[in-house]
Amino acid sequence: MSACTWESGSLLPLSLGPSVCTTRSVELRLGAACRPVVLAKDKNKLVILSEAKDLIVQSFAKASPSSRAKCVASLRLLAYHLSTPLRSLCGKFSPSPPMNTQPLAISPTDRLFLLTGAGVSAESGIPTFRDSNGLWCNYRFEDVATPTAWRRDPQLVWDFYSMRRRDAAHAKPNPAHQAIAALQHRLDRLFLCTQNIDNLHELAGSPRVLHMHGELFKSRCESCTRPPFDDAQLYQPPAAIPRCECGSQIRPHICWFGEVPYDLDEIYAALDACTIFLAIGTSGTVEPAASFAAHAARRARTYYVGPEPPVNLRVFQQCFLGKAGQILPDLFAAP
Ligand code: OAD
Repeated sequence: MSACTWESGSLLPLSLGPSVCTTRSVELRLGAACRPVVLAKDKNKLVILSEAKDLIVQSFAKASPSSRAKCVASLRLLAYHLSTPLRSLCGKFSPSPPMNTQPLAISPTDRLFLLTGAGVSAESGIPTFRDSNGLWCNYRFEDVATPTAWRRDPQLVWDFYSMRRRDAAHAKPNPAHQAIAALQHRLDRLFLCTQNIDNLHELAGSPRVLHMHGELFKSRCESCTRPPFDDAQLYQPPAAIPRCECGSQIRPHICWFGEVPYDLDEIYAALDACTIFLAIGTSGTVEPAASFAAHAARRARTYYVGPEPPVNLRVFQQCFLGKAGQILPDLFAAP
């Protein structure tokens, strides 16, 4: 197995995400020089203005191979958010040659915090949110993943999560889930926090999983105090929304945009205690999870695993660029 590792630190802070709504200048570091890049939002896409794109091309022509290699990682980050022209530009420059992934050094006193995102389930066939063809390319989260959407059209929201539930019901854990579960069995001091609502960590054998955004296979009453309950029904359409004994509607046990993620006290206690923080397959765009790495970085070593640098790249000491299913078995191999 191989992975291309890339040390952060040569990038200036980049902050892109759903909150970007007008134009924004960021700087791309290429060797000693900083190049301004102007981004603009065009409908739901961020685009790079053509003049700035020419500047990048010229800078690449003059730069040394090593600064090109470093810059490719930041271009990939931009390309992730930008339009096709820049994606093809990235294709012209290959990243530094792959290196073997060495096992992560974990001492007997280390405490690990693992944060997983949609990328960890991508190799199981569950779509991510923001990659090309991701869920948010086909749906507006405002229509299906907010309390307002639920009040406006509960059936649409129920059908959306029923569809995701059916997709997840057919998915199997991949080598990334399995490597995490195996590490968890080796180390008691591992806190696994996922933003994912599928149950693939559990199916891989992970004994403890904190689902900060809820769980697809649980439902709860929208109004009474009945606790969330297991709900494995697939609700093939047209399925009416079930009712609680109290008469109110049953809703998905999901944290929607605008709601508070679950178990934050427990999460921050684990972040405060950890000495190694590792984020896997999450783009770093959704708060509060996007800030966990910065929170942990005060005292912990911080790592990222995924095929593209995340938006919050600068807070990671090291990135392992590649698919989680390829990198994690080597990274978590017993020394
Ligand atoms: P995103 O779709 O924003 O990001 C997925 C990340 O996974 C990207 O950075 C990809 O590069 C990476 N990725 C893709 N394939 C991968 C692979 N094989 N191995 C490793 N990484 C891979 O998903 P999240 O960051 O998880 O919240 O999204 C966070 C939250 O936004 C979700 O929990 C959800 C969503 O809206 C709510 O619905 C509240």
